[in-house]
This record gives sequence, structure tokens and C-alpha cells, in this order.
Amino acid sequence: MHQSPQDLRRIEALLDFYIDSGVDCFLGEEVVDWFERSRLQSSQTRHAAAAAPAGPSARRTGDEEASRGPAQDRGQAAFQPPAAAPPARAPHANPGQSAAVPDQEVIAAARDLAASAQSLDALRACLEAFDGCNLKLTAKNLVFADGNPSARVMFVGEAPGRDEDLQGKPFVGRSGQLLDRMLEAIGYDRSSAYIANVVPWRPPGNRTPTPQETEICRPFIARQIALVDPDVLVFLGAASAKTLLGVQDGIRKMRGKWMTYPAGGKEISAIATYHPAYLLRSPLEKRLSWRDFLAIRQSLSKQ
Ligand code: URA
Repeated sequence: MHQSPQDLRRIEALLDFYIDSGVDCFLGEEVVDWFERSRLQSSQTRHAAAAAPAGPSARRTGDEEASRGPAQDRGQAAFQPPAAAPPARAPHANPGQSAAVPDQEVIAAARDLAASAQSLDALRACLEAFDGCNLKLTAKNLVFADGNPSARVMFVGEAPGRDEDLQGKPFVGRSGQLLDRMLEAIGYDRSSAYIANVVPWRPPGNRTPTPQETEICRPFIARQIALVDPDVLVFLGAASAKTLLGVQDGIRKMRGKWMTYPAGGKEISAIATYHPAYLLRSPLEKRLSWRDFLAIRQSLSKQ
């Protein structure tokens, strides 16, 4: 069918709108309300569980819950993902295969896989092979890390954006360029710092990663931090601090305060500061970030 230039412009505008809204990949003909479906599934599961006698599996669940206690005290598992959630894979993405659900099993698989990695290269290979996170379907590249793995300071952001996805490297867009300038201001650069994200795949349209996606990716970044074993860990923005420390405070309250992050059997000095993307929007806040970066430099010079 012949399309007029006007039609083409309209189609282009519609596609732009879809991309801006986070719709950047075709999944299927029918609209599926996964939230409604997962709500029904979880209510069916609850009914089945209520009808089943309490046997060994019920006890195991109780033990698992109890064993979460100390971890939660350390802020490691404060977020409990819902028992049922939207699918990790679109059902049409893999015709012939049943849809995987990002439930506790996927999270447990991520935890086991991450724990098995004995080096950063092995961890990267684990992520390349891991199919439990739906973000991988729409991302162009895995954005694992940039910088020096032996650095004494490690920065953790939330998730890659478009530029990072294209280059397969964290913080290379506008906010990354600001981060570079901030590093330079305290005498550091990417050869003396290590940079990664909680979520290593770009969420479509740069939307915020869902709690399920974050929870699935969390074991990998936790392992990455343990393997890098920095002297100082810097959370860029509230999202990474909240995910990794389990705290609920906003960034205004949290930033600039020294905390500790448990990794590899020790406590790493940690601090949260504003995300560079926020600083681009609110340049006046750079004054407070500057204080945080000076505190980071001072801490590194003391250790
Ligand atoms: N924002 C992030 O949190 N991470 C990046 O890599 C880029 C932008």
C-alpha cells in the first residue's frame, strides 16, 4: 500500500511516542494484562496452599523465612518481591517455550549463579548466559562495568541508558560525562575508579527498572562489589543505595553520610550522593555533591 509523506510522518511520530513511553519492542498481537493475570495466579496459589497439608515443604519455607532475618537486619533483603509477578519473558518471544515467571525461583537461580562466580570475568559470563531478566530481551548490550577492577573506589548507578546500551559501558552519556568531571575534580578517573550499575541491561525507554527486575539483578551487583572489594563504595542516587542497603530514606536524607555495606565477610565504607542525571537537572545541588566527593577523597587518602 502506498503511504503518503504525511502518513509516514504520522507513523514516525507514533513510533517516537511508543519509544518515549518505553514501548520499543514488538511482543505480540494481543494486549495482556499481566498484573491481572498474576493477581489471579497468586490468589489461586494461595487457595492451593491453604488447602494443602503443612508438610516438609511448608517447614522449609518457614526456615527460609527465618534465615532471612539476619540478612534483613543488615539491610540485605529488605525488599521481598511479590510471590507472583509479570513474566520475565514475553510469551511470544520464544514460541514453543512456556513463559518463565520471575518468582522466587528465578531470584534463587540468580543468587546461585552469582555466588558461583569466582572472578569478574566469570561473573560477566554468568550474566551473558543468564536469561532470567526480561530486560535482556530489549537491550542491545550487557552493560557490565567500566574502569579499573583493582580501583579502591567503586561507583554504582541504577541502570544504563541509551548511550550506555549502545556502547555496552556504564555512564558514557551526558550524566557519565558529568561523573567524569566530578572524578577529575578529586584527582580520579576511570583508570582509578570502577563503575557499574545495579541493573546491567537498559530498561526500554529508560523507564525505572521494576522491583522484580531489580531483585533479579541484585545478587549479581552484590557479587560484583564483593569481587572488586573496594575501600569505598559510592551509591549514585537513591535507587542503588536503597537496593543494596535496603534503606528507605530519600537521597536528601541519606547523602553525605558514611555507612557500611557488608560484602565478602567485611564491612565496606559506603556513601550515597546525588545521581549525576539529577545534578544535570538541578545544578545548584552540585555544591552538596562536591562536599560528598571531597569526603570520598578524604576517606581514600586516610585508608
Ligand atoms: N544512569 C545510570 O544510573 N547508569 C548509567 O550507566 C547511566 C545513567
